Amino acid sequence: MPNLMVIIGSTRPGRAGLPIGQWFADFATKHGGFDVQVADLAEIGLPLLADPHHPRLKKYVHQHTWDWSAKVESADAFVIVTPEYNYGYPAAVKNALDHLSQEWAYAPVGFVSYGGIAAGTRAVQQLKQVVTTLRMLPVFESVNIPFHAPLIADGVFTPAGSTEDAATAMLDELVKVEAGVRQLRSGVRAG
Ligand SMILES: Cc1cc2nc3c(=O)[nH]c(=O)nc-3n(C[C@H](O)[C@H](O)[C@H](O)COP(=O)(O)O)c2cc1C
Repeated sequence: MPNLMVIIGSTRPGRAGLPIGQWFADFATKHGGFDVQVADLAEIGLPLLADPHHPRLKKYVHQHTWDWSAKVESADAFVIVTPEYNYGYPAAVKNALDHLSQEWAYAPVGFVSYGGIAAGTRAVQQLKQVVTTLRMLPVFESVNIPFHAPLIADGVFTPAGSTEDAATAMLDELVKVEAGVRQLRSGVRAG
C-alpha cells in the first residue's frame, strides 16, 4: 500500500493541531487506502533553514535535513494539517517545505485546515502557491473545519459528520492521484 504522511503543522503548546491531526491519521488508517505515518513538526524540531545549498541539489550539510529528507521520501502522498495564523499558515510549515525540493515532487497533497469562520481556508490558499512550486499536486477535495475549539475535549477531536464525509472524499482523491503519478515521482526520486 502507498504511504500517506500526515504533517501536523502547528507547534505551540496546547495546539489544536495535535488532536485534529491524530483524528485525521486514525480516520485515514480506517479508510484503508494508505499506510499512514504522522510527522509532527513540533517533535521533529527542524531549526530555521541553515543549509548553504539550494535544496534541489540535495547537498545537505546537516544531519537533521538528511533525516527529514529520508522521512519525506518514505511517503507517497501528504496531508498537511494547518491552522490559520493571521490569514496565513504557520512558519513551521514553510520551513519544513523549504528544507527539501525533489522529495516533494509529484506527490499528491491534501489539506486539513481549521480556524474561525473561514475554517483555515486562507492558509490553504496560500499553501497551494507554495506546494505547486515544489511540483506537489494539491487535490481539490479538502477538509476545512470552522470553529474547531468546541469540538475538542480532553485532547480528543470529535468531527461533525460533514467533516468525515469531506475526509473520505479527500482520501479517495489522494488514492486516485497517487496511483496516477507514481511513475513520475519515482523517476524524480531515483535522480
Ligand atoms: C498567532 C495566531 C494567529 C491567529 N490568526 C487567526 C486567523 O487569521 N484566522 C483564524 O481563523 N484564526 C486565527 N487564530 C486562532 C486559531 O484559529 C486558533 O488559535 C487555533 O487553535 C490555532 O491552531 P493551533 O491551536 O493548532 O495552534 C490565530 C491564532 C494564533 C495563535
